[in-house]
Amino acid sequence: MRLPHHHRWRVRAGDAQRGGGFHVGLLLPELQTARYEAFDRPYFEQALADLCPACDLSYANADQDVDEQQTQAQAMLTDGVDVLVLGAVDSQAAAGTVNEAQSQGVPVVAYDRLAQGGVDMYVSFDNVRVGQVQAQALLEAIERQGTAGDGQIVVINGSPTDPNAADFKSGAHEILDGQIDVGQEFDTPDWSPDQANSQMEGAITSLGVDEIIGVYSANDGMASGIISALRSAGVDTEDLPPVTGQDAELHGIQRIIAGEQYMTVYKAIRPEAEIAAAMAVALATGQDLDAGEYTLTDVEDADGEPVPSVLLDPIAVTEENIGDTVVSDGLHSIEEICTDDYADTEFCQEAL
Ligand code: GAL
Repeated sequence: MRLPHHHRWRVRAGDAQRGGGFHVGLLLPELQTARYEAFDRPYFEQALADLCPACDLSYANADQDVDEQQTQAQAMLTDGVDVLVLGAVDSQAAAGTVNEAQSQGVPVVAYDRLAQGGVDMYVSFDNVRVGQVQAQALLEAIERQGTAGDGQIVVINGSPTDPNAADFKSGAHEILDGQIDVGQEFDTPDWSPDQANSQMEGAITSLGVDEIIGVYSANDGMASGIISALRSAGVDTEDLPPVTGQDAELHGIQRIIAGEQYMTVYKAIRPEAEIAAAMAVALATGQDLDAGEYTLTDVEDADGEPVPSVLLDPIAVTEENIGDTVVSDGLHSIEEICTDDYADTEFCQEAL
């Protein structure tokens, strides 16, 4: 079966449903990052409806709460779902849910984050690569500013319970270590922008704001807290050090065109959601997954077991390629980006 509505992402889940549908449960982790409600959820709903018009979908967002996610999964299992698609809040804690599902014969697709406990399939991005791309861009920006020898960078990583955060961090360190001084480094519970803001305030106090030549921020939400801290310390837009991000959030893109944030990482959520839907259909119907243009690889889970997976490529986005990436893919329109506050930016002047 092919996805009819979008020719670029072709994934087939064998010969899915011809008559009756089945019941899919989608569990997403949080609300702090705009992507889950704004894109992952609707793209998944659409992809499932295309692949299996007769299927039912139950949806829940755990708002960062591990116990809540367990309760939501339990309710779906009680309700008789045939397959779970799980974006885990905490990948280790999720093992309980995965085991419970499997004991009831319900397969599990790990969505974006590799839940432990022996999932059946996994779709995500190459997350080590995300960290490398962020760090590479940061070094290039520092190089261009000619400030490399003048100070230190601050590194603000994501949530310790998110296995992706560990991958972003190790990818970043592969590039940064030995190349630049890291003045302070933090892990940020729940990917909280507020915590990132306080951590940055702490770094400014202990290093001195003029010493900070760049900030590695693992995502856009935290970049907003980091940039506010620099602003509160009296730094003007043109003097802000380069700050990285991830998720190509609308506000991240707006900060980039305003010259506040240097870059973000764009992860095309539509194919991720479409592949997840095709995996769910394949598992529920017992069909093979035909990954189409994507490569199916084995990723080892925490127990060393191979999980059939698709890992997509992340893309670095700076002001130069916003048009060719997030705009041309339909993630954010020029109208959404160029609101009144941003109409005077060079980007919007050219685009409007
Ligand atoms: C990661 C995910 C990112 C971002 C982040 C913050 O697991 O890959 O895209 O959402 O969590 O929640």
